Formats: sequence, C-alpha cells, structure tokens
Amino acid sequence: MTDLFIQPIFLLGFGGVGRALARQIVAARDRHAQRNKLRLAIVGVADSASAVVEPAGLTDQELLDLIARKSRGERLGAGTLSVLPDALPAHTIVVDTTATDATVPILLAAKARGMGVVLANKLPLAGELAWWDALADEQSRWETTCGAALPVISTLNTLLDSGDDVIRIEGALSGTLSFLASQLEAGRLFGAAVREAKTRGYTEPDPRQDLGGLDAARKALILARMLGYRLNMSDVSVESLYPVEMDALSVDDFLRAADSLDEAMRQRAAELTAGGRRLRYAAEIENGQLRVGLIGADPDSKLGSIRGSDSIVVFHTRCFDDNPLAVSGRGAGQEVTASGVLGDIVSLARARR
Ligand SMILES: NC(=O)c1ccc[n+]([C@@H]2O[C@H](COP(=O)([O-])OP(=O)(O)OC[C@H]3O[C@@H](n4cnc5c(N)ncnc54)[C@H](OP(=O)(O)O)[C@@H]3O)[C@@H](O)[C@H]2O)c1
Repeated sequence: MTDLFIQPIFLLGFGGVGRALARQIVAARDRHAQRNKLRLAIVGVADSASAVVEPAGLTDQELLDLIARKSRGERLGAGTLSVLPDALPAHTIVVDTTATDATVPILLAAKARGMGVVLANKLPLAGELAWWDALADEQSRWETTCGAALPVISTLNTLLDSGDDVIRIEGALSGTLSFLASQLEAGRLFGAAVREAKTRGYTEPDPRQDLGGLDAARKALILARMLGYRLNMSDVSVESLYPVEMDALSVDDFLRAADSLDEAMRQRAAELTAGGRRLRYAAEIENGQLRVGLIGADPDSKLGSIRGSDSIVVFHTRCFDDNPLAVSGRGAGQEVTASGVLGDIVSLARARR
C-alpha cells in the first residue's frame, strides 16, 4: 500500500512491556494499515546497556530477532544510549517503557526537537515539576502510568475538557495491594498473603516496592498534577505496610520476617472492616491533599465493590455527583500494559499527522 503514513517509533526499554509492545506492533500491521492508514516503523531500541538505531526502520524479522536475542540475555547492539541519536527522523515518537528516571534527559531532548512522547514509565511524570511541565503536554500520552490499559487518564482528560469540575478522586491503584487487602479481609495472615502474592507473580521481585505504597502514590500524584495541583512526592501522605527497619533485610529474610507483622495487620484490618466495611489500599485526592493507605470502604460503594487484584478509579465530579464515574478492571500485566502503550502511540500518531 502506498498511502500509509509511516510513523517512526524509538523504544526506550526492552523488558517485559517493551518486548510485548514490539510483538504487538508486528501483529497489528494489517489492522493499523486498514483502520488507521498507518505503519509504525521501529527506528531504534535501547535497554540499559545496549542500543540499536536504524533510522530507515527495522524490518519485522530484525525486530523479532532482537526480541529473541534479548530473551536469551544477549546485548541488542554494540553501543549504549546516553543521548537521543541525531539520526532519528524529526517526527519520531519516543516510547519509554523503562522504570528509571535516567531516561529524562533523552525525553526532554525529544521534546526540544518537537518529537512525541509516550510513557509507561511513571518516574518522569512523578519526579520534578519541571519534568512534568516539559513532558505532560498534548504531544505526549501516558495512559498506562495509572491502571495499565484502563482508560483512566483519557477519562480524566475528557472530564477536564468537558468543563466538569472534579471534586474528589479515589482509587485502588495497585493490583498487588488490592489482592493483599482482599486476602487480609478474608482473614488471611499478612506474611502468608505476601508470599502468595509473590508466588503468583503479582509483586515486584522485591515485594517491599509494592508494600511501601510508593508506586500507588506516584500514580495518584500524576492524577493530582493533571488536576492542576503543583504537588511533589514529599507532599503525599503514604502508609507503608511494613516498618522502615525491614528495608535492611534481604528479600528472602523479609519474606520470612513478614510473619512478625501478622498480629498488627490483623488488628488494623479488623478495625477498618468493622460493620462490614471492605478493606482497601486506596488513594484519595481532594482539595490539593493526597493520601494513600488502608481504608475501610463502604461495601455498597464502587471502591468497596472491586474484587481480587482489580484496580479502580472513581471520579466524583459536579456532573457525576450521587453516582460517580468509575473505571475498573485489570490494572496490571505486561501484555495489557503494552496494548495500552500501543493505543497511546496510535492516538498520538493520528493527532500529529
Ligand atoms: N508490568 C506492568 O503491569 C506495568 C503496568 C503499568 C506500567 N508499567 C510500567 O512499565 C514499565 C516497564 O515495566 P516492565 O515490567 O517491562 O519492566 P522491566 O521488565 O524491568 O523492563 C525495563 C526495561 O527498561 C530498561 N532500562 C533500564 N534503564 C534504562 C535506560 N537508562 N535506558 C534504556 N532502557 C533502560 C531495562 O534494561 P535491561 O533489560 O538492560 O535491564 C529493561 O529492558 C515500568 O515503568 C512499569 O512501572 C508496568
């Protein structure tokens, strides 16, 4: 087909989400051509230690070979990436699926050159306000930074564009902590529930990264910043589900020692669930205040209704007052996140074309 718009894509990060995204781009070729008159050309891929840059676009076979090579633990190419390559086409979209803020200089350079940016990585948007100001504009998309592919960011943008007033946002923003809360509510002991969450692959390799609440706090901070609140992570009240002294332990020692928190967590869960309330690890944003931690949710509320490891964001607005607008469902997973990133890429490519 000759009438396809060729959209160059540069991928930062080639882990679980980055590789799933590359596979999905190849698998969606026909759909993008027919539905969007679009062909996504991967003009480079970088991980933490190596990079490949091909301004003319990698072939699908070259891309699939890179996925196979990376899955075997091999390097992608000879060089490492420290700056945005000069050779990239001017209308490239840079996609960040890393989990580091080391990519920020590259993202800022991309913006300075008028490129589009798509982020699955929360850290650049939850870091310095100057990064937020430079990155969070109409030439960027960041749907998967909050609730994976659930349309949380696009819903909030629509509410803000529609002239509605967002009064309060509440949400269960961590699939891991939703699972854990549901287990504690059912009378399961904390240590055993943490180990099960890890065995099921719900947690980060070090479960303290989930249990500390920072990941949920970053998601909530991104929503709060979209509302116009000039807040930083230091402004967020974050309840950690383990004491700071346990940071000194190895992962295995922490998993064993988690049993020592059983009784305190049992008591806290019992207090919060008195009268049939549901235990949730929730974010609350209202009047410029931001808190994440355990709460007892009304069982008839939307927040109280989610099950298992699902995520939910509830928007209480002037128009959606007595029956608030909720977005809920599966809010984590590499494949579903990659699909959300791909949706962002197509949305941005269409807007910029
Ligand atoms: N998984 C989910 O459910 C989910 C949901 C929503 C959002 N996210 C977000 O998506 C992102 C990716 O998650 P993931 O599960 O794919 O993580 P991952 O498997 O750990 O992959 C991260 C990738 O980033 C690369 N990287 C690290 N530093 C880099 C640098 N300076 N320059 C270029 N690449 C660099 C890593 O390189 P090496 O391979 O060399 O280590 C790795 O390839 C994270 O920010 C995560 O929070 C994930």
